[in-house]
Amino acid sequence: MPELKKFIVVGLSATCLFSLWLLSNTNSIVTEQTSNTDNQDILYQEYPSSKNICTVDSFNTGQWVHQDIGLESHSIDGLSSYAGYHCNWDFPHRCYMRSDQPEEFNRSKAILDYTWQPDHCTLLPFEPRKFSKHLSQNPLLLVGDSITQLMYESMWCLTGQDLTAQSKDTGLNGGDTEMWASQLVHRDLADQPDQVTVGFIRSDYLVKLDDFSPVKPNGGQGYLIGVGNNFPWVHAISRFKYIMINTGPHWHPDLKWGPNKDRKELLKAFEKGMTQLLKYLKKNLSTDQRLWIRSSPYGHAQCSQYTAPDVVPVKPTGKEGEYEWDMLEKFDHIWKNLIEKENDERFRFFNVSMANLRGDAHSRPDSDCLHTCLPGPVDDWNKYLFHEITKLVIEQ
Ligand SMILES: *[C@@H]1O[C@H](CO)[C@@H](O)[C@H](O)[C@H]1NC(C)=O
Ligand SMILES: *[C@@H]1O[C@H](CO)[C@@H](O)[C@H](O)[C@H]1NC(C)=O
Ligand SMILES: *[C@@H]1O[C@H](CO)[C@@H](O)[C@H](O)[C@H]1NC(C)=O
Repeated sequence: MPELKKFIVVGLSATCLFSLWLLSNTNSIVTEQTSNTDNQDILYQEYPSSKNICTVDSFNTGQWVHQDIGLESHSIDGLSSYAGYHCNWDFPHRCYMRSDQPEEFNRSKAILDYTWQPDHCTLLPFEPRKFSKHLSQNPLLLVGDSITQLMYESMWCLTGQDLTAQSKDTGLNGGDTEMWASQLVHRDLADQPDQVTVGFIRSDYLVKLDDFSPVKPNGGQGYLIGVGNNFPWVHAISRFKYIMINTGPHWHPDLKWGPNKDRKELLKAFEKGMTQLLKYLKKNLSTDQRLWIRSSPYGHAQCSQYTAPDVVPVKPTGKEGEYEWDMLEKFDHIWKNLIEKENDERFRFFNVSMANLRGDAHSRPDSDCLHTCLPGPVDDWNKYLFHEITKLVIEQ
C-alpha cells in the first residue's frame, strides 16, 4: 500500500507539471511517455509462462523436421529472403550462390527444407533487429577457427539490416599489424570511432601451443599444426560484454605433445591448454561479462552419401579421411567438466550437437565435409545465442 500511495502522489504532481508543460509544448507527449516506461532492455519480455523454455541441453534434444519450404521465387533473392539473410555478397560457404554449379541451389534449398525442432522445449522467436540493437550496447566477440568464422558470417547475414562492416581501425588488433580482425558495427553507431558491435578474431587454438599462454599482440602466433592462424585476442576481451570461443578441429596428434604422437597425448595437451586458458580468463573477466565455450560439431566422411539429416548421429570413429573428428566430443567433455567444476556464472557451455545430424549440409561433398552451407544449421546457433542472451536479460 505505501508503494501505491507514493505512486499516486508522484503521479499527481507529475500530472500537474505535465499539464503546465503541455501548454508550452504539445508535440513531445509521446516521447515523454515512452521514455518514462521504456528503460528496460530492448530484449526484455515476459517469459511465456506455460511453456518450457529451452536450456542448452534440451535445445539439442530434438529432430530435423522435413517441411518443403515455399520460396517467393526460385532464385538467390527468394532463398535469401526465406533465410532472413540481408547480405548479397559472396563468401566461401554460401553454397546457393555458386553460379558455376547451378545444382548447388537446389541442394541448398533441400538443406533448408529441414527445420530443427527441440522435442520438449520452446525457443524464443528470433528477433534480429532487436538483437542487433542490444548487441550495439552489449558487444559480442567471437573467437575461434573457420567454423567460428562461419558463425560470424551467418550472424552478419541475419543482422545485415542493421549491422554493417566497420571499416575504421578500431584498435581491435591491439597494435599487431600482422593480424586482421573482422568487425561489424550497428548503423546507428557507424559514425562513432572505435565502435564494434560484433567482432571476430581468428584463433585456431586460443592459446599459444608452445606454452599454452595467451597469444599476445606482436608476440607471434607460435607453433601451428598445419595451415591457419592463431591471432591474439585476450587483449580485446574487456571491450565486449559477450564472448564466445571455440577450438578443436585444428588440434592433432603431434610430437609437440609427446613421443608417441597419439590421441592420448593430444587429449592431455588439450586439457592442459584449456585449463590454463580458463584460469587466465577467470582472472581477466569482469563479473558482468559472459563467456560461452561452443562445442565442436564433427564432420562426416564421404558426405555426398547423405541426402537428408540423420535421426541417430553417425559418429566419426577415426577412419581415414576423418582427420581427428572423433576427438571433438572428447574435447567438448573436457570443457564441460571444467565449467561444471568451476560453477562460475560467467562461463557457460554452448552445445550445438544438433549440427552433428547434418551430414547432408556440408559445404563441398566430398572435399569439404566439415563446414556447412550458409544458410544452414549454423544460423540456428546464432538464433540460439539470441535465445540465451534474451534469457540473461529477462533473468537479470
Ligand atoms: C549436447 O546435448 C545433447 C542433447 O541433449 C547431449 O546428448 C550431449 O551430451 C550434449 N553435449 C555435451 C558436450 O554436453
Ligand atoms: C532445381 O529444382 C527446380 C524446381 O524443383 C527444377 O525445375 C530444376 O530443374 C532443378 N535444377 C537443377 C540444376 O537440378
Ligand atoms: C589478465 O590478468 C593478468 C593477471 O591478473 C594481468 O596481468 C593482465 O593485465 C590481465 N590482462 C587483461 C587483458 O585483462
